[in-house]
Amino acid sequence: MATNRTFTMLKPDATAAGNTGKIIDRIIEAGFSIKAMKWTQLSKAEAESFYSVHSERPFYGELVEYMTSGPIVAIILEKDDAVASFRELIGATNPADAAPGTIRADFAESISANAVHGSDSDENAAIEGRFYFSEREEA
Ligand code: RTP
Ligand code: MG
Repeated sequence: MATNRTFTMLKPDATAAGNTGKIIDRIIEAGFSIKAMKWTQLSKAEAESFYSVHSERPFYGELVEYMTSGPIVAIILEKDDAVASFRELIGATNPADAAPGTIRADFAESISANAVHGSDSDENAAIEGRFYFSEREEA
């Protein structure tokens, strides 16, 4: 069932390159509204917990190391069919495969440094949003 909220992180490559404002503009222009947002940095334990679903994957260690290498921006977003709509906006995981005009096609550096995270289901969107924000912090 479609929901109206999803969760994103602007990853360390995006914050380091000064692309956060440009990416947030693209998200808003695509019709999403911001419900909660913070600039922060993950500890190793936090990144391991956030990505625990990937703990058996070969890239898990690299992913955790990368996601703790610099600041990130955590954002809860709202739009009709938010999860699917946002994944379409960001494009494929590997920027080499991302469709032209998507955020990863335009801003990602590599499969690891791929600019943005997007929740992959309604259930995970709710879990990931709550990882960073209390109910009180959602507008
Ligand atoms: P995300 O969760 O960040 O939105 O990305 P995704 O759904 O498109 O991809 P997922 O399979 O969930 O992988 C999470 C992140 O792990 C990194 N990754 N590296 N080296 C590799 O083969 C590899 N595969 C995935 C990516 O940064 C990906 O965004
Ligand atoms: Mg994913």
